[in-house]
Amino acid sequence: YNLLAHNTFGIDGLCRRFVEFGDVDDVQTFVRTLTEADRPLLIIGAGSNLLLTRDFTGTVLHSAIKGREVVKRSDKKVWLRCGSGETWDDIVAYAVDNGWHGAENLSLIPGEVGASAVQNIGAYGVEAKDLITKVEAVDIATGNVVEMTNEDCKYAYRQSRFKNEWKDHYVITHVTYCFSLNFCPDLDYGNIRHSLEEQGISKPTAQQLRQTIINIREAKLPDPKVMGNAGSFFMNPVVGRDVYERLAARYEGMPHYVVDAEHIKIPAGWMIEQCGWKGASLGRAGVHDRQALVLVNRGGATGEEVVALYKRIIEDVRNKFGIEIHPEVNVI
Ligand code: EPU
Repeated sequence: YNLLAHNTFGIDGLCRRFVEFGDVDDVQTFVRTLTEADRPLLIIGAGSNLLLTRDFTGTVLHSAIKGREVVKRSDKKVWLRCGSGETWDDIVAYAVDNGWHGAENLSLIPGEVGASAVQNIGAYGVEAKDLITKVEAVDIATGNVVEMTNEDCKYAYRQSRFKNEWKDHYVITHVTYCFSLNFCPDLDYGNIRHSLEEQGISKPTAQQLRQTIINIREAKLPDPKVMGNAGSFFMNPVVGRDVYERLAARYEGMPHYVVDAEHIKIPAGWMIEQCGWKGASLGRAGVHDRQALVLVNRGGATGEEVVALYKRIIEDVRNKFGIEIHPEVNVI
């Protein structure tokens, strides 16, 4: 089975078997009849955070579980339970249309609901963990349905237990998000405010904020339909204040985000640009010319070509800044 249509990097790769499930029963039947020959398993969403570097010898699983249902309301909040196969941005649009707030800054992030809970997707100062209240999944070992609270998932920047000790243990079937009926927009990140001012907007509506975020993303991030990519390729490294101060003294105006009193996040895209990689290529893999954190497939690139490029970039950033950066995409 060819995975070309299932990864936004546009890389050609095969898997032995591809299974799509439409409801919880389907998942339970699949995991209860699973044999060693079906393994290993790879659970994917829309394939927007995936780099295939070799053919996959096992079974690729994809959720096609749809549905959105208001499961609880209060005078201030709404809880929406969504199928893991729903497209994330459709949920954001639906929430904005209904006057349910909190997800506006996460507009246009590619991918599906299930992955939002694995990856803790984030942008412009907001993360999925700020909205998630419950994750429902099927335990692959037993076929039983299990529920996790937000705390259970141990969310952190682009991290959760699903990426670590729970990796390949669960198939996520539903995620419940809590939205606010009150609109308290988060406009502090980067150029959101500037971008609104340019449009003559001082107090945006939720719809205007969503559109502004969409415009900012479209201006910086390549459309995978035009040029294969998986969004940010690396995570932004978090360093100690001492490391930051040493670098800031040397690179005036270095962009940074304060995480807490002792920790600073440094944009990897800025460091990659300083290394001279922005817009450059190695074989058919390249670095996007408007956002150096994004690696692109210039046409027909293999997974190995992207790997060769990302390893060179890691090495150059290490040599120039003494900082180790790590892929954010799932490298298979
Ligand atoms: N920068 C450069 N050169 C570049 C890219 C960035 O100097 O080529 C500088 C920018 O000028 C800015 C800073 O780096 O001062 C941060 O850039 P940006 O706001 O574009 O965000 P980012 O840190 O590169 C992160 C997320 C994005 C998310 C944006 C906005 C990660 C790994 N990436 O990128 O998420 O959209 O912030 O919140 O945290 C993704 O995960 O796929 C993704 C696109």
